[in-house]
Amino acid sequence: MCAKPVKKEPRQVETTGHVWDGIEELNNPMPRWWVWTFYATIVWGIGYSVAYPAWPLINGATPGLLGASTRADVAVEIARVDAANAEIKASLVAADLNAIGADPALAAYAERAGAAVFRTNCTTCHGSGAAGFEGKGYPNLLDDDWLWGGTMEDIHLTITHGIRNTTDPDARYSEMPKFGVDGILEEPQIAEVAEHVLAISGQEHDATLAAAGAVVWEDAGCSGCHMEDGTGDRTQGAPNLTDAIWLYGGTREAVTESIYYARFGVMPNWNTRLSEDEIRAVAFYVHGRGGGE
Ligand code: HEC
Ligand code: HEC
Repeated sequence: MCAKPVKKEPRQVETTGHVWDGIEELNNPMPRWWVWTFYATIVWGIGYSVAYPAWPLINGATPGLLGASTRADVAVEIARVDAANAEIKASLVAADLNAIGADPALAAYAERAGAAVFRTNCTTCHGSGAAGFEGKGYPNLLDDDWLWGGTMEDIHLTITHGIRNTTDPDARYSEMPKFGVDGILEEPQIAEVAEHVLAISGQEHDATLAAAGAVVWEDAGCSGCHMEDGTGDRTQGAPNLTDAIWLYGGTREAVTESIYYARFGVMPNWNTRLSEDEIRAVAFYVHGRGGGE
């Protein structure tokens, strides 16, 4: 069924003179409200581009009479926050490293600021601390196994100067000899001492090879850094080889590789990128994550 065609009254409006198939085009004026809104937008647009940054120039834009700038607003906001924190930052820098935790306000600030510094600067290498982070050569900072020590002083020094970098003369430094590459040990001796490392770390091993390896361990001077019993020496950043925590892997293959090529983990110094209050805050944060001593 078709709808009945609606019959429209002829309108008293002039036409544009255009006719298509007998259909005429009427020349209705624009509704008045529309026309006024249109003029209003023009006025508003001109006003806006005079008052606010509007027209692009080669380097930037017209500034506008009001001098409005969201970038300046951000700078003001940052300055405001900095000023509000200036006092607590100063007390953080002045505090005895081990007394930070005893002052609840200081501890709360250091914890929050430290977490932010850690997220921004440290997670790329150290991971977010989520269990199971396995970055080879990058120690998990949230466990209680330390290469260079886990007291506030140790951590603060490690972060400030870094490790084996070439940019800070006070960086922590030590170098394990490349026993294989430099021909200090023969390959069979390396196999033996690797077997000894498997033995002292409580892993499956060949007892005969390991016994020979114990002799190599003494003769080659492994104990000079890793100590006689393999528990490591933090003054040299020499890891404990008797626990289940490995920096570069605890398999026979990985241990052999560590002995043959040696390892040389490098961490940048942060004293040129972070302020003292930031270094202290992140040291406090790391120290507080379960592993601090
Ligand atoms: C470019 C990678 C990298 C970044 C970024 C980095 N680190 Fe490290 N960090 C390392 C490496 C590699 C080591 C282990 C060095 C070694 O083998 O002795 C390390 C070791 C450490 C240690 C010593 C751990 C121990 O067991 O004694 C601390 C503490 C530490 N980092 C803190 C930080 C903090 C805090 C930040 C952020 C401000 C940071 N690191 C950023 C690479 C990095
Ligand atoms: C001069 C000190 C020094 C001597 C000597 C030395 N080491 Fe090391 N060793 C280190 C240091 C420092 C590291 C850690 C390197 C790093 O963090 O990048 C290390 C790392 C290792 C690792 C890797 C540990 C891990 O967690 O992945 C093994 C395995 C190892 N050494 C075995 C030996 C054996 C076996 C000998 C003797 C044949 C030996 N080392 C002699 C300083 C030494």
